[in-house]
Amino acid sequence: MKRSFSKVLRTLVVAAGLSLSLASGMSFAERAPMVPLPSPSGVDIPPLSVPANPNSLANGTQAQAQPANPSIFTAPNSDPQNYVSIPDKQAGVLIQRAGQEWRLIRNGIITVYGGWLLAIAFFGIIAMYTIKGSIKLHEPMSGVKIKRFSALDRLIHWTMAASFLALAFTGLMILYGKYFAMPLMGGVAYGSFLMVCKNIHNFTGPLFTLTIVLFFLLFVGKNIPGKGDLDWLLTFGGMFSGKHVPAGFFNMGEKFWFWFGMTFLGLLISASGFVLDMIVPFMQIEYLRGTMQIANIIHSSAAILMTTMAMGHIYIGTIGMQGSIDGMKTGYVDATWAKEHHELWYDKLNK
Ligand code: HEM
Repeated sequence: MKRSFSKVLRTLVVAAGLSLSLASGMSFAERAPMVPLPSPSGVDIPPLSVPANPNSLANGTQAQAQPANPSIFTAPNSDPQNYVSIPDKQAGVLIQRAGQEWRLIRNGIITVYGGWLLAIAFFGIIAMYTIKGSIKLHEPMSGVKIKRFSALDRLIHWTMAASFLALAFTGLMILYGKYFAMPLMGGVAYGSFLMVCKNIHNFTGPLFTLTIVLFFLLFVGKNIPGKGDLDWLLTFGGMFSGKHVPAGFFNMGEKFWFWFGMTFLGLLISASGFVLDMIVPFMQIEYLRGTMQIANIIHSSAAILMTTMAMGHIYIGTIGMQGSIDGMKTGYVDATWAKEHHELWYDKLNK
């Protein structure tokens, strides 16, 4: 039973990895030079007029398609602020050039390199599991249970984890779905599916932020760097040397995840997400196109980084280390686990 479960898990893992690679591959494909559209007037544009960057051909081809009337396309493309009598003064800029740059950054740099980062992390974890396997305890479980997390700690942690997973799934669909889900589902079904994803994403965001704040308040005291942390950091927890490095309630790897992953990246994603949702409280923000473009770039870059780190955290918290899930599942850990992985904490309890 255990064997077949691990087989299924491995197949799932490989399938998900392949989809991710496919996504990065396809987003690369989008960057391949596009062939300019033939001119309807029959006048072919000399190659020199083709923009140097193939990605900017979307606008370029449109302009070439209307060679007799170039001013219509060059004038609005240069960001002029025209007069409008409606309150939305942004409507006076017909085409904002930075929008094209934002599109190139989002569909190029973020999609492609983010895809590679996610795929490398994913396959790195598979490689680690295949080569090193799960980190086992050296001694047998003692049967003596030690309290590690309260019911409130676990409720907040699992709400944070569930909301994160919902956000990560829907967010990745928003960024990569068009490359593999749209061809599979067809445009209409994909459009409806993405609308559902977008709404789940928008409404789950504030819940995720709330859980980050609550988890921060609950655990900040246990994440202050202290005795043993520098040693842990310098030897990476003895992972490569195999040497045992004693740690307190949380080791330095967990503290890094707490401070950089959950707190810094979590709050950066939250703040930019509140801007994108246009729900920033207590501040008068003008949600201009430029503001939204910057918020979008910060949001997606930080979210991809956090998802990469979360993969490592989830791996170590489940199949990567024997007994690690017990504390967050039941609130209790075995004394052998506590002694082997958090010796300074264990010693303090037994003083
Ligand atoms: C479903 C996926 C997840 C699993 C299986 C999981 C598992 C665990 C486990 C077992 C622990 C306790 C480790 C210990 O006893 O030392 C833990 C702690 C923690 N988890 Fe998760 N987790 C998940 C998702 C997340 C997510 C998405 C976040 C952040 C957004 C997160 C943030 C944390 C933090 C900050 C800690 C405490 C570490 C510290 O404060 O230094 N977890 N997790």
